Amino acid sequence: MDINWHFRRQALAEQFLDAFDRGSASSYTLFAPRRMGKTEFARQDLIPMAQERGYVTVYVNFWDRLDSPDGCFLLGLKDASTQLSAAKRLSNWFQTINKLGIKTPYGGIDIGTQTAESENLNLDLITGGLDEILGIGKPVLLILDEVQHLATRPEFEPLVFALRGLFDHHRQQLKVVYTGSSRNGLNTLFKRKNAALFSSSQQIDLPELGSPFLEHLSHAFFQATQRHLRLAECQTAFRQLKKIPYDYQQVIDILMRQGGTDIESVTQCYIQEQGFSDEHADIWQSLKPVDRAVLRRIAEDTINGLYTQSSMNYISEQLGLDAIERPTVQNALNRLKNRNIVASTGYGQYDFEDPHFKDWLLQMADNE
Ligand SMILES: Nc1ncnc2c1ncn2[C@@H]1O[C@H](COP(=O)(O)OP(=O)(O)OP(=O)(O)O)[C@@H](O)[C@H]1O
Ligand SMILES: [Mg+2]
Repeated sequence: MDINWHFRRQALAEQFLDAFDRGSASSYTLFAPRRMGKTEFARQDLIPMAQERGYVTVYVNFWDRLDSPDGCFLLGLKDASTQLSAAKRLSNWFQTINKLGIKTPYGGIDIGTQTAESENLNLDLITGGLDEILGIGKPVLLILDEVQHLATRPEFEPLVFALRGLFDHHRQQLKVVYTGSSRNGLNTLFKRKNAALFSSSQQIDLPELGSPFLEHLSHAFFQATQRHLRLAECQTAFRQLKKIPYDYQQVIDILMRQGGTDIESVTQCYIQEQGFSDEHADIWQSLKPVDRAVLRRIAEDTINGLYTQSSMNYISEQLGLDAIERPTVQNALNRLKNRNIVASTGYGQYDFEDPHFKDWLLQMADNE
C-alpha cells in the first residue's frame, strides 16, 4: 500500500493559479523560514496543479549549486524539457545543453563556478531555453526557489538583470513564483535600484500548518504502524517544534522506528539532541549588551515599532541607563540584520529570522 505523507495545500495553489489565469497577477513571492514546506508546496502542490491546467512548469532551486545560479537555472530548464514534444527536444538549444559535459551530484549540468567569461554564454543559454519553452505558446510557470540567494554576491547581478528584462517582456505568458527563507535576503533583492526583481510581486507568507496536517500525518502513521496517536499530544509536540513540519516529520520517523505512541517524550529527546539551545546560547554570548536589549524587545513585542517611546525606555532600562539615543539602537539593529538574526517585517517593525531562537530567548527571560 502506498502511504501518502504529503498534506496538500490546495487552496494556496489555487489562489496563485487563479490569479495567474485571470491575469490579475503575474508573480508572487512566497516567504517562510527554513524547513516550513516551501519546496514541498512548490513541487507537490503547485506544479502538478499548474500542469493539469495546461502550464509548462520550470522549477529552479538556487540552493542546488550555491556557486552557480546559472547552472541551477539551466538544470531547471533541462528538466522541464520532459514536458515538451519529442520534436521540440531535438531543437538546437536542447542539443547544445545536452552536449555541455553535464555533471552534478544530481547528474545535471556542470558549468562550474560562475566567472565573468562564462556569464554571457550562460545568459544566452538561459534566455534561449526560456524562449524555446515560451515558443510552444502554452502558459509557463517558473518557480525560483530560494531566490534571495541571488542577492548574496555581486557576480550574480547580471542574471537578475537579465531575468527582469525577460519577465517584463513576457508578462502575459510567463508567471513567476519566487520563494525565499530570509526576509533580509528578499528585501535586499527587492530594493535593488537597478534590478528590482520583485517590484510588482505580492508577498505571501506560507500559512502555518495546523490540526488537519497533524491528523493527516497521524493517519499515515496509523497506516504504516497500526498505532494511534492522540491529537492533543501531537498538537503539543508540534507547538514545541515551533510548527516546523520538517522537525515534526523527523519525530514521527523516530517514533515509527522506536515503537510506541509516546510522541511527547520523543519530541523532548529530539529537541535536546538537536542542540537548538546550545547554538542559541553561543549566538547570545557573542552579542553586545545593547544588541541583546534590542533583541529582547523584538522578542517581546513585534507589534509596536522599535522606536516608540516605550521601546526606547525598555531598552535603556535593560542597560541600566537613563536614556538611549536612537542611532545607538539603529546600529544595534544593523548588526542584528547583518547577521541575519532579525529582519524587517514592515515600517519600523522587526522579527526574528529563526523562530526557535526567539522562543529560546523568551523562555530564558521567563526563567530569570
Ligand atoms: N505539505 C506537507 N506535507 C507533509 N510534510 C511536509 C509538508 N510540507 C513540508 N513537509 C515536511 O517538511 C520537510 C521540509 O519541507 P521543505 O523542504 O519543503 O521546506 P522548505 O521551506 O523548502 O525548507 P528550506 O528553506 O530548508 O528549503 C519536508 O521534507 C517534509 O518532511
Ligand atoms: Mg526548500
